[in-house]
Amino acid sequence: MRRLAVVHHRHPEWVAAIREAEPRLDVRGWHPAEPLDDPWLAEAEALFVWKLPTGLLARMPRLGWIQCSGAGVDHLVADPSIPAEVPITRADGQFGFWMARYVVFHLLAEAQRPEECAAAQRERRWEGRLLPEDLGGKRALVFGLGRIGRQIARALRELGLEVHGFVRDARGDPEFPLHPAAALGEWLPSARLLVLSAPLTAATRGVVDAGLLARGHAGLTLVNVARGRLVVEADLVAALDAGKLRRAVLDVFAREPLPADSPLWSHPRVVVTPHHSGPSTPRAMVPDILDNLRRYADGLPVREAVDRSRGY
Ligand code: GLV
Repeated sequence: MRRLAVVHHRHPEWVAAIREAEPRLDVRGWHPAEPLDDPWLAEAEALFVWKLPTGLLARMPRLGWIQCSGAGVDHLVADPSIPAEVPITRADGQFGFWMARYVVFHLLAEAQRPEECAAAQRERRWEGRLLPEDLGGKRALVFGLGRIGRQIARALRELGLEVHGFVRDARGDPEFPLHPAAALGEWLPSARLLVLSAPLTAATRGVVDAGLLARGHAGLTLVNVARGRLVVEADLVAALDAGKLRRAVLDVFAREPLPADSPLWSHPRVVVTPHHSGPSTPRAMVPDILDNLRRYADGLPVREAVDRSRGY
């Protein structure tokens, strides 16, 4: 039986789910903080992991495949200790749906004016002029239109927004107008919403900086469900204070957990959430990796490895 090592803080549930999905594999799990010195690992050719614990690769000389437990593989792609010939695959499960709900929730939390409604209710005041914002035809820019970004874009379109996608290589698309990532700034002045759903790569790091935000305005909301480092956090705070943004809804940060002294915690127009917009659950993720689990059991090469030079 081919071996697959699961090194993950929630390894028991992943091991159970992977065994059930592909019973032909010998699957064993460890917590990343455990001593990973079991000789069993030396014969394992596949590894399921989030972050690679230091020293693990040296104990897995036969390693031929790394399956990341999440969607963003920036931390693995940047790891020079992973031999170039070891394919890395990712999984985004149902993240598109989760993140679409996250974006819609935070947008509607502005548009429907729930806090003002609640205040009026507390005072038993019938506030007939408390109209929701009309989002119809307002422009939403989705930076990164992969599987996740597309699901977010669809949800926004269903709410009546005009959605534009921004991608590395702009191409014709049957669903949305797509623009090159470099054109984002041109569209910012007319946008109501900017959603970041792109991987962290050399090309996207710091894309939301002072230069870009200078083209923002007091009605623009930023939502980041991608990676914190797409945004220069100091520039973001300055832009909020300068009226270049209405609000920033941030699920991801340059450093996580967000340090206690970060000004983002207490900024009145920043919403901080604990990297929860796309929970990785075995139920949602295992179907995504099933094809490769089967291929691995059959001795075939895995498919859809990330392109490490591109970064995703
Ligand atoms: C979580 O952030 C992931 O990339 O899966």
